[in-house]
Amino acid sequence: MRKLTALLFSPLLALSISCSKRSNPPAMEILHPNDTLTRIEINSPQRYLLLPIEESQPEVQVRLVGDRPEDTWLDIRLAVDSIDYYVPLALPEGKSPTTVEIIGLDRKAISYEKMQLADTFDTSAKDYYCPAYHHSPAYGWMNDPNGMIYKDGVYHLYYQYNPYGSKWGNMYWGHSSSRDLIHWEHHDLALARDTLGHIFSGSAILDKQGTAGFGKDAILAYYTAHNTHAGKQWQAQCLAYSLDNGKTFTKYAGNPILTPFDGVSDFRDPKVFWYAPEKSWYMIVSADKEMRFYRSQDLKKWDYVSAFGEGYGARPNQFECPDFFQLTDETTGKEKWVMIVNINPGCAFGGSATEYFVGSFDGKEFVPETAPEIAHWLDFGKDHYALVTFHNTGARTIGIPWVSNWQYANVTPFKQTRGTNGLPRDLFLFTKDGTSYVGARPSKEVEALRKEQVSLSLPQSIGEEVRLSDALKGLEDSFELELELTPAAKTTRVGLVLSNELGDELPIYLDLEKERITMDRTKSGLIDFGTKATPHDRESNDWRDRDGVNYQNDFAIATWAPLSLCTGKTYKLRLFVDRSMAELFVQGGRIAMTNLIFPRKPYSTLRLYSEGGATQLHSAKLYRLGL
Ligand code: FRU
Repeated sequence: MRKLTALLFSPLLALSISCSKRSNPPAMEILHPNDTLTRIEINSPQRYLLLPIEESQPEVQVRLVGDRPEDTWLDIRLAVDSIDYYVPLALPEGKSPTTVEIIGLDRKAISYEKMQLADTFDTSAKDYYCPAYHHSPAYGWMNDPNGMIYKDGVYHLYYQYNPYGSKWGNMYWGHSSSRDLIHWEHHDLALARDTLGHIFSGSAILDKQGTAGFGKDAILAYYTAHNTHAGKQWQAQCLAYSLDNGKTFTKYAGNPILTPFDGVSDFRDPKVFWYAPEKSWYMIVSADKEMRFYRSQDLKKWDYVSAFGEGYGARPNQFECPDFFQLTDETTGKEKWVMIVNINPGCAFGGSATEYFVGSFDGKEFVPETAPEIAHWLDFGKDHYALVTFHNTGARTIGIPWVSNWQYANVTPFKQTRGTNGLPRDLFLFTKDGTSYVGARPSKEVEALRKEQVSLSLPQSIGEEVRLSDALKGLEDSFELELELTPAAKTTRVGLVLSNELGDELPIYLDLEKERITMDRTKSGLIDFGTKATPHDRESNDWRDRDGVNYQNDFAIATWAPLSLCTGKTYKLRLFVDRSMAELFVQGGRIAMTNLIFPRKPYSTLRLYSEGGATQLHSAKLYRLGL
């Protein structure tokens, strides 16, 4: 932000504005035709109008006056008293004069004095908690991954994006791409909020044959248009196509392509997939508390097939962001269908989480293997949501979650950039005690993040406690720890504690009496940033047994997973720490646990401990990670 401020307020810039005043009309003129409306006349070919934001202010309405569908009213928290950061409003190329209108901003607001024209927008300054090696946007707000597709060696990751602030609002599809799932390049916005509505979540497919009529090899994006009409929420599915490998999209003139037959107001997040036995495209869409299947021959007209979900899994809930794919069970070799159902609320630990159902599908109906009251979780942390998978990755099923929880997503301690995605994970199916489960292992590409292995001079077995502060010194805040251990028959608890000199600590341990693995962030650093304790989502929920810890709010909690998902007595733990995130994978992803953390200083000490009996430590490896 420093560079940007310097650029904005440099005397040079001020001079160029006042010089131009003499001969030409002023570069920018602010008019207040009445009490609520402000009109800004811009007579300049510059690329951006930089808008000052004050996050605590209510949204006011801003629009570029024009006749493009994206020239719609935007909701922006323009600064009134002080400035937190700036956001760029892109001015239409080659069009000057341009008019911007604002409704509802006090005439005395500081924004009028400080908004500026510029040709560049500097995104180099990063928030303290911005991750070092995870995907996050260049600035602004991000939630769900959208339209993930692999084409010609490139992974495209679109995402729910607000370019005009770092709280939820103004949904666009942002766009990043990568050749290795690790190094991401940011691109121009892919789909803009328009007069039909916000651009909500959805998916993308490769139309190799040109079935939809837009040409061979077109990328088709399916998304939800969300709007409010006369106080009532309206959601419908829309289509856009790209003929330049996902860089730019044209919205289909016949949008919306699918509205709900029963007028349900929560009808969103379409995921399109190919179903070979019927040689047909299918779409799965969330509709309140169920998922609906549709089928199409031409990728534009969709016919209703069936629904699944009402009364299944954790409750109360709201179904969102579905995915549907086949996996081959690594234990039995059998192929099964997996339905991903992201739910909010309903998370075992409160708020939003990713649930799944395993079953069969015959092109008509999905039949789950589990009873309605059973909920299976893809991740046992509290910050794993909206996971969906890439289209067109052959035998691999690669998913990416958004790392946050709707209970507090808007108030986490970030400023100019709020929103991070988790590590890419390969999903797999395994059977334990006769039940099918979906596991999530870090994709193999993640290993390329290992910059250096730091030696840990560990003894071969852990006694009561071993201090490892020296090994961790200078490791900063981006590392991977890999431990393989076998607790003895009498061991009651074995684990590790990451801590810093301020007393922040993150214990992760196997509780062998309760047969759980737990990550406890109650004292992990900043835990109270405006979050409150909401009544829990489920009435009777044994997941809420929180080891006697007194939880102050929705963030300060411990999350745990049942060790019954593992086999044998040896546990391999992989822990990834990246400034504000801790992702844990046990036994190759049979258990995954993703949590946000906000240590006030990087954890500098690692302590391993074993209680009740010795633990055999087979290996301990520590890697510094980076891009
Ligand atoms: C899930 C979700 C989706 C919706 C999007 C809006 O996090 O609520 O259902 O499409 O976010 O940003």
